[in-house]
Amino acid sequence: MYSEEIRKYGFVNQTIPEGLNLAEEITKLKKKKNAVILAHYYVADDVQDIADFVGDSLALSQRAAETDADIILFAGVHFMAETAKILSPNKKVLLPDLNAGCSLADSCPATDFGEFIKNYPNHTVISYVNTTAEVKALSHIICTSSNAKQIVQSIPVEKPIVFGPDRNLGNWISRETGRDMVVWDGACHVHNEFSLERILDLKKQHPDALLISHPECQKPILEISDFVGSTASLIKYTHKNSSDKYIVATEPGVLHEMRKHSPDKIFIPAPGEDAECACNECQFMKQHNLEKVYNCLKYELPEIDLDESVSRKALKPITRMLEISAKFGL
Ligand code: 13P
Ligand code: SF4
Repeated sequence: MYSEEIRKYGFVNQTIPEGLNLAEEITKLKKKKNAVILAHYYVADDVQDIADFVGDSLALSQRAAETDADIILFAGVHFMAETAKILSPNKKVLLPDLNAGCSLADSCPATDFGEFIKNYPNHTVISYVNTTAEVKALSHIICTSSNAKQIVQSIPVEKPIVFGPDRNLGNWISRETGRDMVVWDGACHVHNEFSLERILDLKKQHPDALLISHPECQKPILEISDFVGSTASLIKYTHKNSSDKYIVATEPGVLHEMRKHSPDKIFIPAPGEDAECACNECQFMKQHNLEKVYNCLKYELPEIDLDESVSRKALKPITRMLEISAKFGL
């Protein structure tokens, strides 16, 4: 009934009665439908606040694999919801707005990646979770930024590796582990665009601040960072470290969680190239809002639907990742 609307807008575009307390209504719907809301740290603050669980991409996939809910509403980007569906094929997985894509996943079309890896038939193919289900189905093992080092180190040293699609993360892991890898030339439009010059200016203005960065940032930024890590490890670093001030080079949605844990500390979002734009924000993650979450749960649309054979093939490398992560206590 709403398929035309979803084709047109990417979400259920039904008017919501004025004055409705959306957070309360979403909670009621969740209970009634035995649904769970999983949210990534990059989504809007009010969407994080109504979620049952907020996490980075590894923690979210672990939760999606474990949940006994009938419906998973994923407030994150498309590949994350797809991963949840692959892990829980019998559950209904909802994404409030199908426009929540990912420029990094888009930088690696499955047909091109398939041709690329044909050149490396003896290599182990490690793909970052920020890929489509089709790319995952072509891979031997998946990783996230939280476990990429351990995943690479789990491959015997004599075995060559292809890593895709993020060149900044791949090259960072290569430097960290000493493993020479063939790296696909993809990037995230948010992390790749942080301005070194403007970060150096900020460091001058705030000499007491520590610079913390996500490994999807470019090498010159990683080299001057006090700490490099996944979204979850950046958050953890700010809890544990005694510094009161941080320049944060990742999507600024993480500041919400950082401030919750450390309300007295100062967090400065790292800037992109253009002073006027909000180009350090992931516009895909910011597609979701409470209205869309409410309609999505109410109408149980849009739903993630995957080709069964792709889903089955993609499950193997994801399961391998989860098993290795569990071994390392991640
Ligand atoms: P995390 O693995 O740190 O959650 O990162 C996901 C992501 O999309 C980074 O841009
Ligand atoms: Fe994709 Fe970049 Fe957005 Fe992460 S921040 S979801 S890599 S576009």
